[in-house]
Amino acid sequence: MFTSQGPGLRELAVQALSSVERGYDLLAPAFDHTPFRTPDSLLDAVEEVLARREGGFGAGLDLCCGTGAATGMLRRLCRERVTGVDLSAGMLARAAHVHAGPAQAGPVRADFVRADARALPSGLGGAYDLAVSFGAFGHFLPAERPALFAEVHRALRPGGLFAFPIGAPPPAFSRLWWVLAGFDAAMRVRNAVWRPPFVMYYRTFPLGGVRADLRAAGFTVETVPLERFGRRPDGSPRWRLVLARRAGEDGGPDGHGPGARGPRGRGPEVRGPEVRGGSGVRA
Ligand SMILES: C[S@@+](CC[C@H](N)C(=O)[O-])C[C@H]1O[C@@H](n2cnc3c(N)ncnc32)[C@H](O)[C@@H]1O
Repeated sequence: MFTSQGPGLRELAVQALSSVERGYDLLAPAFDHTPFRTPDSLLDAVEEVLARREGGFGAGLDLCCGTGAATGMLRRLCRERVTGVDLSAGMLARAAHVHAGPAQAGPVRADFVRADARALPSGLGGAYDLAVSFGAFGHFLPAERPALFAEVHRALRPGGLFAFPIGAPPPAFSRLWWVLAGFDAAMRVRNAVWRPPFVMYYRTFPLGGVRADLRAAGFTVETVPLERFGRRPDGSPRWRLVLARRAGEDGGPDGHGPGARGPRGRGPEVRGPEVRGGSGVRA
């Protein structure tokens, strides 16, 4: 879980009493040594499905990129450019450090932009073929999902794909169920009595509600089992990849009709986004 290079208890406590932005600024130097960073096994499983099903992409967006765990994956999958967006300047600085230079992942450059995922800079609109997000949805209240998904929809080109993994909930009253329920309850108490709030809940992102909100935002939604993580006793996958697609220019569900500019479509030459409103960190 935590390695010797990870944060100590005191550092974690200070982080938990801060805002989300400040908390991650504090955690950033040690973040890659915590279990909060998405493990490579999950990143690899997602990359494998995206590469197999979709082939390559044009431009990629890593939403709530943190220190850039998924940015390397995007740099391999995308031909044009990759942008990481995060609220925390500290996390972005780490990401820019990790992804400085071409040797890290792929030949495609990565830019990092400080912005709130619920209000992306206008310069990012309609610019991406693939958006991914890992390990961050617990930071959004259910009521914020429509705005979040609307922003991702706006950032995608017609036919573009929003992909993210989602884990099956633990069986009710199992040990893990109690741990997560206990964590969420403690955070609710913390947020009721302490300012600023630190929004982080484990049980507020159920597939049913997420699917409904994605559809309401204009996506067509399918899920693909991530088989390497196995199945539960009832046969359902432990992890799935959610694939939410913005309609193509012809209004078709998959963006592969005439004029489509989706992952398999051909689009015009793409210029880099002119990011306003976010403070860019160039890798
Ligand atoms: C647990 S970390 C995950 C980082 C990375 N995606 C990973 O998988 O390792 C969550 C990240 O979400 C970012 N975040 C939280 N709320 C955000 C918001 N409203 N807009 C943008 N980023 C946000 C945090 O700053 C943090 O870097």
